Amino acid sequence: MDSVDKLFKNNLAWADKIKEEDPHFFQKLSEQQTPEYLWIGCADSRVPPNEIVDMLPGELFVHRNIANLVVHTDLNCLSVIQYAVDVLKVKHIIVCGHYGCGGVAAAMGSKSHGLIDNWLRHIKDTYYRFSERLETCQDEKERVDLLCELNVAEQVANVCHTTIVQDAWKRGQALSVHGLIYSLKDGVLHDLDVTCEAPEQLPEAYRQD
Ligand code: CO
Repeated sequence: MDSVDKLFKNNLAWADKIKEEDPHFFQKLSEQQTPEYLWIGCADSRVPPNEIVDMLPGELFVHRNIANLVVHTDLNCLSVIQYAVDVLKVKHIIVCGHYGCGGVAAAMGSKSHGLIDNWLRHIKDTYYRFSERLETCQDEKERVDLLCELNVAEQVANVCHTTIVQDAWKRGQALSVHGLIYSLKDGVLHDLDVTCEAPEQLPEAYRQD
């Protein structure tokens, strides 16, 4: 019980600290949220979105799951994207992976992990698709890290292929989708330069008229 009590104690100290800087902060935020960013990240406890980009509550709309996947039949993730784009009108969608991702590493092996293998299967497909390139890596660690990057790029494409994002572009809404990767070792974020902001950047087969 002690360890849960700690959460309440920390929470009160945190709320007091924020109110000290801006006495009306929570009052204002309780009335509306206007985040500019939707963050899709890994559930890993070492990659907490608001902390790593030093943003306050209200600034990031967040969806997290194991290995930051965007699966086109996942109603949970799609609902988050739809609300963020259609209602909150975020300007940027950020898919953020991280080096040394346990989900990515697990997907590369053949060991069984139970139910989660069905989820990790999506990464296995990416592994298979880029197997030639991945085999050129010097060691296992380098291979995991490259697959972490490729996985992010795949998820950026998956976001762009959704009807939600393509409909937004069709109606002229400014929206860009970015792929980032975070290093657990030094806390630094890197841009993977896979930003997509127009349907012309997508393969023709995925484009909607
Ligand atoms: Co991870």
